[in-house]
Order: sequence, then C-alpha cells, then structure tokens
Amino acid sequence: MTDMNAVVEKFKSRQALIGIVGLGYVGLPLMLRYNAIGFNVLGIDIDQSKVDKLNAGQSYIEHIPAANISKARETGFEATVDFKRASECDALILCVPTPLNKYREPDMSFVINTTDAIKPYLRAGQVVSLESTTYPGTTEEELLPRVQEGGLVVGENIYLVYSPEREDPGNPNFETRTIPKVIGGHTPNCLEVGIALYEQAIDQVVPVSSTKAAEMTKLLENIHRAVNIGLVNEMKIVADRMGIDIFEVVDAAATKPFGFTPYYPGPGLGGHCIPIDPFYLTWKAREYGLHTRFIELSGEVNQAMPEYVLGKLMDGLNDAGKALKGSRVLVLGIAYKKNVDDMRESPSVEIMELIEAKGGVVAYSDPHVPVFPKMREHHFELSSEPLTAENLASFDAVVLATDHDKFDYALIEAKAKLIVDSRGKYRTPTAHIIKA
Ligand SMILES: NC(=O)c1ccc[n+]([C@@H]2O[C@H](COP(=O)([O-])OP(=O)(O)OC[C@H]3O[C@@H](n4cnc5c(N)ncnc54)[C@H](O)[C@@H]3O)[C@@H](O)[C@H]2O)c1
Repeated sequence: MTDMNAVVEKFKSRQALIGIVGLGYVGLPLMLRYNAIGFNVLGIDIDQSKVDKLNAGQSYIEHIPAANISKARETGFEATVDFKRASECDALILCVPTPLNKYREPDMSFVINTTDAIKPYLRAGQVVSLESTTYPGTTEEELLPRVQEGGLVVGENIYLVYSPEREDPGNPNFETRTIPKVIGGHTPNCLEVGIALYEQAIDQVVPVSSTKAAEMTKLLENIHRAVNIGLVNEMKIVADRMGIDIFEVVDAAATKPFGFTPYYPGPGLGGHCIPIDPFYLTWKAREYGLHTRFIELSGEVNQAMPEYVLGKLMDGLNDAGKALKGSRVLVLGIAYKKNVDDMRESPSVEIMELIEAKGGVVAYSDPHVPVFPKMREHHFELSSEPLTAENLASFDAVVLATDHDKFDYALIEAKAKLIVDSRGKYRTPTAHIIKA
C-alpha cells in the first residue's frame, strides 16, 4: 500500500507532474490550465506533427492562441510521442477521441490503444483519469483490468477515476477553471486522490459515487441536448407549415423564468459530441435488453435536417424558375457551429454533398476554414470564397448553414439573389429569404 496521503500532498503542493495523453480540443485547454497554476505538464500524443508544433510554441486550433502555447513551453510544458515517459507522470489524464464506427457503434480503439500504450509504464502512486466521453462501464471494463495487469492494485497503490470533459469550444463565458467537474472513483481512495488532482485546477469538483455514474452524467447532458434540438427541429417543420416563425416562438417561450430552456433549430447536428455520444448509450443499453427510443427518434429528426434544408433550397430556386441542377450555390459556414474552425460531423458538409449529388455547383465561404480540409469520408477541392458584393451576386443561391459573427449579414441580404436561412438570422419576411 502506497501512502495515499503522500500522493494527495504532491498534488496539493503542486509538485506533481501532470501527464495529458491526447493533445486535442480537450487536452490542450487542460494542459494550459495546469500550466497556468504552476504544474509541470507533459503532453503525450501519437501525432508527431502536433507534438513538433506544440514544442515549437505553435497552436493548431484557432481559438487557442499560439502565445499561450509558447508561454506554457517556457514554463514547464513539454510534448512528446514517447510513451515511456508516462512513468514520470504522477497523473495520466486521457483525452483521446471516442467516435462511432461506420455501423454507428462506439469505436473504443483510441481509448484501448492509449491504455495499452501507457500500461507498461504505470507505477505505484499514479492516478489514471479517463476524460473521453463514453458509455457507462468503460472505466471498469476496459481500463481497470489493463491498469492492474502488471500487478498494481487499483485503490491501493494506483488510483483510477473517470471525469468527463465539459469543454464548449468558442464559448467566451466559460473556461476550464469555471466549469464544474464531475468525478467518479473506482474506490473511495481513488475518488479522494482524483479530487486532489482536479481541485487544484477547477473551482468546483462534483464527486459522484462511481465511475459509471460519472460516465452516465456526461451522456445525460449530451442526450438532453440532442433530444431537445430534435424536438425543436420537429417544431420548426410544423411551425413553417403553419406560417409561424419558430425562432420568434422560442424567444418568446424563453421569457418564462422557470421550466423552459431555449434550444434553437438548425441544419442538423455537428461536432464531435452531440451527434455521436447519445449512441454510446444506445449501444450499451442493448446489452441490458433496452431500447433508447428518445435517442433514436431525435437522431432520426436531426439527421433529416440537411435534406430539409436542401428541399427549401430547391423550392426557392423553383420559384425563381431555376433547377438546382446547374445552379451555383454558396454555402455560408462549414464549421459545425458559429465562431469555431471545427468541421467534425458538420451538417454543412452533408448539405454540400446533397447539392452536388443533385447536379448543383457548390462553393463555400467560411472565415474560419480558409481551405476545405482533408476529411476521412468527405472531400471537396475548394477554398473559402471571398464575400464581396460582386461574388455574392454571382451565385443563384446562398445557404446560411453556420451563423459566424464574422459574416456581413447586411451585405449578404443586399446582394444575394436567394438566401436559404437555417439559423433564423433574418427575421423580417423578405421575398428573397427562405427560412429553412
Ligand atoms: N471537442 C469537444 O468540444 C469535447 C467536449 C467534451 C468532451 N469531448 C470528448 O473528449 C474526447 C477527446 O475529444 P477531442 O475533441 O479533444 O479530440 P481531438 O481529436 O481534438 O484530440 C484527441 C487527440 O488524441 C490524440 N490521440 C489519438 N490516439 C491517441 C493515442 N492512442 N495516444 C495518445 N494520443 C492519441 C490525437 O492525435 C489528438 O491529438 C472525446 O471523447 C470527446 O467526446 C470533446
């Protein structure tokens, strides 16, 4: 049995070396936070190019300034691809992807490969924390046996926790420190050490009774969003048919001071979390003979949104005496949400593919994505169109898919021939603007 108090004390005195495995949207802000409060941080990633960039003081994520990375480099942050160095770390915080495979089932390969990669270098006195979003049971079923494989005993000489990340990239109102952090330990000792790790960096740590409860908490949060967005997307279709503006209705309902939370409709779900995470629970629930009907239903409604937007585009062109085939269409905003450069699961990309499949000639404009990046399943040899008056007027239609603040909405309204607005940016009814 190691002296647990000594481990706790190492975090409290900020003498511990924090290891962050997976230096992405989640891992990097966490690294910066620990660095800012005086911890040495070792970042471990399999991607040599990211590691080189970070070690050179550069950033590869738009909303994380390079100045922050270079400052961290000067004050105790280092990145490496060498997993052997995991043994130096007192905490190993895993922030690796948890996507779905092509059958829309959890792809646990990143979590498993990472755990296998650090496994030979685990030692007594360490705490291992999984932050990746995942189904209830992952920590117990996948991490626990691997962590104990070499003879270490969780809760006695090594500690295992699950603490979901709640990062909201691009949201200026919250930062790592001010977002309360839920944490579940495999044993009470694990929880105690885990709290000591996180309470240095986060204002409010919220302990729950198990790693499973913590895993399910994160899924509930994201399922809540997916289901409510599905609901409001369905309401949008009904409102549209009845000649009612759904955005006006949501804003009016949101004046109720209790019992209502506003969610806004859009062209579909995007990002690494909301379209994906709910299906982690769907998959696991099947093991228990249960069907997650709300998740499936909202998934169905949300996944139909790009087709709905396409239908509105075709209606608008039709009214102007045009077919989509051969028309030039400009998609505004291809990041999955406003003011970020993240294109993962973006519904804009699906809309672009649908336009192309119908014979339309598609282009895009996005101030955050200057060149269409190489994506695993989609590709367009395109770069962002400049939003000049002349260029806007040259397209048969524009589809407003992501409402970045950087767009000049007055110019778009004045110059575009037809606007298909999936974000409720244009509230006053105008002949050349269609709500989608
Ligand atoms: N992006 C968000 O807003 C957000 C918010 C909350 C939770 N999450 C969850 O956090 C987790 C990470 O998401 P992300 O957006 O940071 O992903 P990301 O793709 O931005 O970053 C993951 C990093 O892990 C690295 N990596 C992959 N395999 C590895 C391995 N075997 N060993 C070490 N590093 C490896 C990748 O190179 C990459 O740098 C996911 O489970 C996600 O669901 C993400």
